[in-house]
Amino acid sequence: MEFNALVVEKDEEKGITSSGVKKINLDQLPDGDVLVNVEYSNVNYKDGLCIGPGAGLVKSYPHVPGIDFSGVVEHSETENFKNGDKVILTGWRVGEIVWGGYSQKARVKSDQLVRLPEGMTTKEAMTMGTAGFSAMLSLMKLEEFGMRKDNGEVLVTGASGGVGSVATVILSNLGYDVVAVTGKDTSADYLRSLGANRIVNRSELNEVIKRPLESASWAGCVDTVGGDTLSRLLGQLKYGASVAVVGNAGGNHLSASTIPFMLRGINMLGIDSAMQPYENRVKIWDRINIDFPKKHFDSITEIISLSDLPRVGQEILEGKVKGRLIVDVNI
Ligand SMILES: NC(=O)c1ccc[n+]([C@@H]2O[C@H](COP(=O)([O-])OP(=O)(O)OC[C@H]3O[C@@H](n4cnc5c(N)ncnc54)[C@H](OP(=O)(O)O)[C@@H]3O)[C@@H](O)[C@H]2O)c1
Repeated sequence: MEFNALVVEKDEEKGITSSGVKKINLDQLPDGDVLVNVEYSNVNYKDGLCIGPGAGLVKSYPHVPGIDFSGVVEHSETENFKNGDKVILTGWRVGEIVWGGYSQKARVKSDQLVRLPEGMTTKEAMTMGTAGFSAMLSLMKLEEFGMRKDNGEVLVTGASGGVGSVATVILSNLGYDVVAVTGKDTSADYLRSLGANRIVNRSELNEVIKRPLESASWAGCVDTVGGDTLSRLLGQLKYGASVAVVGNAGGNHLSASTIPFMLRGINMLGIDSAMQPYENRVKIWDRINIDFPKKHFDSITEIISLSDLPRVGQEILEGKVKGRLIVDVNI
């Protein structure tokens, strides 16, 4: 039986990848004890890399990307899941080193799946996906390290992107005073509609300065950009405040002063969504279910099909995507 998937192929001689929707069959899927009828996937920055250049994430071709998916169990060889169960997969290097969710069927290991939270749809789960999961993980880490809403403004960088949009909605919904940093002139109204109280242009933060300390401004930060922006904002954190280091859309390299750590007791908190243990995953999805208001699922979402992926994969690498792109694999 054949079904549709986005297949990436590589011309090894020229080192060029190309992708398109193709028919594949069950025998081609990776090993695993659960077969899922995929309903939705989505597009994250990492997916852009896996649809396109690979960036060392994809180890062999042909490849089916898609780091997230949600759907219904079609066949299970474990007692933990039965046919008809609704499930979510994010991370675990699925869609990178093994075939992922840009397919009408996916076979995975059952310990990589979580159950869909009560009251959430498979489409809503993919509006969140790795981006929403990472935004919530960042917030929970910041709270653990003392971030409180009465301590002042909280910064979100790369705010119009996937992680940034979800972080803005959740923080605002919880009563935080959110300042959104964006490079897109057209995003101000969008970010205000998500709950940002103030918009700061990206150019105000990405300039490198020599002073290690600036005015203490932020009670916390969700940083999806990294690089010079992260270096700069370390010197702007309030006493004892933390930054959740979740992304590198602006660069991997960090050249920073140790002074804010020693004089203001600030913290850099590493965020990894891909390998989070099962117990944490359940807690994070439960918090998303409680703290992400239903009315915002539609406001940050655009539905696309498998055949749109080659185009949007390139766009997300260019920083052009706003909010969350949801892939309905069955249209
Ligand atoms: N640690 C983890 O587990 C984890 C999980 C998910 C994602 N991530 C990482 O988090 C980042 C965001 O992921 P995403 O899926 O939200 O991607 P995304 O939708 O493409 O969002 C990234 C946003 O960053 C801003 N941006 C893009 N290029 C930039 C540049 N050169 N300098 C400064 N800002 C730039 C843009 O927002 P504005 O136009 O509004 O500025 C863009 O929309 C990526 O680096 C991704 O790899 C990490």
